[in-house]
Amino acid sequence: MSVEQQKYVNFKTDGYLAEIRELNRKLNESLTEITALYETVEITRHSINLDEVFSSLFNSAICALGAESGSLMLLDPEKKILTIKKAHGMDEDVIKNTRIELGEGIAGLVAQSGQPLIVHGKADSLEVKGRKKYEKVNSICVPLKSKNGIIGIININRRNDIPFTENHLRLLSTMANEAAFALENAIWNRDVNEGYSCIIRVMVSIVEMRDPYTANHQKRVTDLAHALTTEMGLSKGEIDGVHMAASIHDIGKISVPAETLSKPSRLSKNEFDMIKEHPEVGYNILKGIAFPWPVAQIVLQHHERLDGSGYPQKLSAEEIVLEARVLGVADVVEAMASHRPYRAALGIDAALEEISKNRGVLYDTRVVDACLKLFYEKGFKFKE
Ligand SMILES: [Fe+2]
Repeated sequence: MSVEQQKYVNFKTDGYLAEIRELNRKLNESLTEITALYETVEITRHSINLDEVFSSLFNSAICALGAESGSLMLLDPEKKILTIKKAHGMDEDVIKNTRIELGEGIAGLVAQSGQPLIVHGKADSLEVKGRKKYEKVNSICVPLKSKNGIIGIININRRNDIPFTENHLRLLSTMANEAAFALENAIWNRDVNEGYSCIIRVMVSIVEMRDPYTANHQKRVTDLAHALTTEMGLSKGEIDGVHMAASIHDIGKISVPAETLSKPSRLSKNEFDMIKEHPEVGYNILKGIAFPWPVAQIVLQHHERLDGSGYPQKLSAEEIVLEARVLGVADVVEAMASHRPYRAALGIDAALEEISKNRGVLYDTRVVDACLKLFYEKGFKFKE
């Protein structure tokens, strides 16, 4: 091959290599974008913690767009002011003190118009708050829109001179839509949960008026059951379900005459049989309410025992839902530790001995272990 031919081959090879490098760069960029989108969709669809959603979305946006700084700002609809909810690469005092009015700077303009913006160049034309005149700006800003209007913005900045592209704008807008969806979901969840809490509060006050013993017992059982579910690392849904069920688990006792419940002497067989119906009565009261947790089922099963010796259905082991196994232990420990109308308190030591002795026989081993840990190692105490 002649020298000229060799030069030509080298020239072509360099061209191909540059093309491959460019394709590789684009491929990596697309992969980063797809990963960021996937992560955003996953977290917004599966998390009910709004703060977690915002953090995850914002970090993915910073990472996918190769940015050095940015902020997620929420709009106070009354005062029409944007404040920083999440930030990256910004000073603490800026995060705390920044207040941007609608129409002011890039963020204010985007929040006012609802239109995304890419700004690349000098800041003088935009009256960008906090920036020196003629300072270079390399930013992308998209609105967070809910069905009721603008709720905030996401603003991302680069220090280098490589401008953001339309692809970046599309990516960030999609992520912002997911965040707005998560926010709407969180608000809806909060309202629905408030509705359920209201129903529970009404039921609790009915029990309180009629039977203060049971009301106090339910409160203390709820505290222990909540601590148990947290100690066991159960999901938020399971923790909330146990909490709701525990706070009204003896609601079925409203079918028992008040004088029987407060009888200072031992109960007759008939009276005891009547009290034993309370899980089913409670179930029947609760089953018509479409709680997002199996509240009625937990209440129905809270006197079932692992070996099938409980009531009303004589379920055993895994047939009993985990939440009811937790509530069962909390119920027994509180009942034994406390004074009852017909007997003095047996004390917490006797209660813990009962669950230790019957660990894996009557009571779930995981629940018993968590309970012993709470009392012996973590200083859990019932409130007076
Ligand atoms: Fe009960």
